[in-house]
Amino acid sequence: MPEMPEEYVKRLPKSEELNAMTEQSLRAAFAGESQAAEKYVVFAAQAEEEDLPNIAKLFAAISFAETRHARNHWRVLGGIRKTADNLQTAFAGESFEIDEMYPAYAEIAKLQANKEASRSIRYALKAEMDHKRMYAEAREAALQGKDIADQPVSVCTICGHTVIGGLPDKCPVCAAAKEYYRTF
Ligand SMILES: [Fe+2]
Ligand SMILES: [Fe+2]
Repeated sequence: MPEMPEEYVKRLPKSEELNAMTEQSLRAAFAGESQAAEKYVVFAAQAEEEDLPNIAKLFAAISFAETRHARNHWRVLGGIRKTADNLQTAFAGESFEIDEMYPAYAEIAKLQANKEASRSIRYALKAEMDHKRMYAEAREAALQGKDIADQPVSVCTICGHTVIGGLPDKCPVCAAAKEYYRTF
């Protein structure tokens, strides 16, 4: 790499300072990489359906690479803290989606009579309410230096309904059979 002129190097911010433009760049890059990662997961599933397993693998691997980029950007942004703080960040994000974002988006979808958008938004909004509660409870434990109980956490692969512990016979949000849940 060519040497940078001495004068220019002196003007650069110290590495621990994140100037506003760098922060904006990293936030945009974090958003873009996160979105690319999810798109590639979806594209991989589509390639599988088309019986193109090696293209599916390529999408899956590159999706993972994008998650590494997103993580690196987020780390430089100072976004990774102790778990109790991370749970607060997660709780705040879910709260915003429940209280402001999805209700507004739901109104727009209703106004425009887009049933598919309304359903997609309703699925997300319902799940965010559970996520918010789960994060709040986990934070209580983390603040006391404890982990939460060792229980299965299951997610409906159709709508994202999330449940801790036993599975319902069918999803209370989208009515999918319990076989559609993925358990962590
Ligand atoms: Fe959520
Ligand atoms: Fe569901």
